[in-house]
Amino acid sequence: MAEFKKAESTLEWFDQRLGVTNLYKVMMSEYWIPKKINFLWAMGVILVMLFKILLISGIFLLMYYKPDVNLAFDSVNYTIMQEVGYGWLMRHIHAVGASVVFLVIYIHMFTGIYYGSYKKGREMIWISGMLLFVLFSAEGFSGYMLPWGQMSYWAAYVITEIFGGIPFIGDELVVWIRGNFYVSDATLTRFFMLHVLLIPLAILGAIAFHFYALRFPHVNNEDGEFFDFDEEAEKYLAGNKKESKVVPFWPVFLSKDFMVLGFFMIFFFYLVFYHYSFAMDAINFDKADGLKTPAHIYPEWYFLWSYEVLRGFFFDIAGISGKDLGLIAFAIANGIFLVFPWLDRSPLVKPANQRPYFKYWFWLLIADLIVLTIYGKLPPTGVNAWVGFFSSMTFLILFALLPVITKMEAKKVGGE
Ligand code: HEM
Repeated sequence: MAEFKKAESTLEWFDQRLGVTNLYKVMMSEYWIPKKINFLWAMGVILVMLFKILLISGIFLLMYYKPDVNLAFDSVNYTIMQEVGYGWLMRHIHAVGASVVFLVIYIHMFTGIYYGSYKKGREMIWISGMLLFVLFSAEGFSGYMLPWGQMSYWAAYVITEIFGGIPFIGDELVVWIRGNFYVSDATLTRFFMLHVLLIPLAILGAIAFHFYALRFPHVNNEDGEFFDFDEEAEKYLAGNKKESKVVPFWPVFLSKDFMVLGFFMIFFFYLVFYHYSFAMDAINFDKADGLKTPAHIYPEWYFLWSYEVLRGFFFDIAGISGKDLGLIAFAIANGIFLVFPWLDRSPLVKPANQRPYFKYWFWLLIADLIVLTIYGKLPPTGVNAWVGFFSSMTFLILFALLPVITKMEAKKVGGE
């Protein structure tokens, strides 16, 4: 064991044992962030905050929630909403938080796409981000089941049924996931375990991994400029703060983030107190009934775009059934963002508005995703079905074109 001399201060005492000054430097005061970034770079910190809010409100809900098909619905809608002091507030915070977190994830993700933050050495940041997206999706889906309302039951039924489309093992897989031949008590209890334990643990690990992946390639900036971080940090430490292209994570970057976070929290609590109903489907206030299918089954708003891709193929093409085509398109839609860094063939790291072809591609994709989201909630009949088909096709075509147009772009303007 190392030799210890008597500490002169409390800080020194901790320093000798935990190296806190060094840790503070590495993680905060000498962790360098580019100066030229805007409010969109605050989304990551907002996401951390939302995760904390969900965790804390979830712990309070957990004290009264009962994971049992006979008790779950009443434990939420009667006990928590009416009997427990401020139980309604915890539920509204949790439901609004679960919905808004996806809005912020999408903004964060598309900021990355717009500025090319997934390229040239930043691939692991992107992949760890996608892992977080998958985990949050699983967390949202499993949580939606817990109140055991009509939408909880039927969304669980439809989504688990999708796995039946996987060749050879599909049918057995559905039974394995549900823990029964139909959505039942065993399904509820296993999704409860996933929602309150396994997935949150995995999210914590994935956030740590995402942050670690940011350390070496560093955060991107508004111009996509590459510079030597060590050199710029030296300038900053030497007092040349104006000339330096970086600022320390703490106190400079975080204090600016906290301002954006402050505005966000006002918006968040405005939704919690005045518009919470958007985060709770009216049909889910009817208790789950396996014998009564609701007229329209749809997932939460953040899954609507991929749900519409699944439904978009409503007729057979070239001998392949519409159902199978929908499943294939759905699988592509869910996996394609993971390989984004390899689909974009241009090494140019620039914001989309400075990229001659990509800028059209980017805004077309956003428009298409909005159309898919809107039509994902409407009944898939008549004109709606055709809009669904064409917007699903547009989605697939856009991704098929991405390597082509980015390669052409690279030829036109060159790399770097
Ligand atoms: C849901 C949990 C997430 C948390 C807590 C989180 C947190 C963060 C933080 C704090 C940053 C650094 C500052 C910033 O750019 O905001 C960051 C950067 C980044 N994140 Fe996430 N993120 C999450 C999800 C995602 C997702 C779903 C993606 C997309 C696949 C993603 C992709 C990225 C990229 C590409 C960067 C680098 C941005 C740059 O270099 O400019 N993240 N994230």
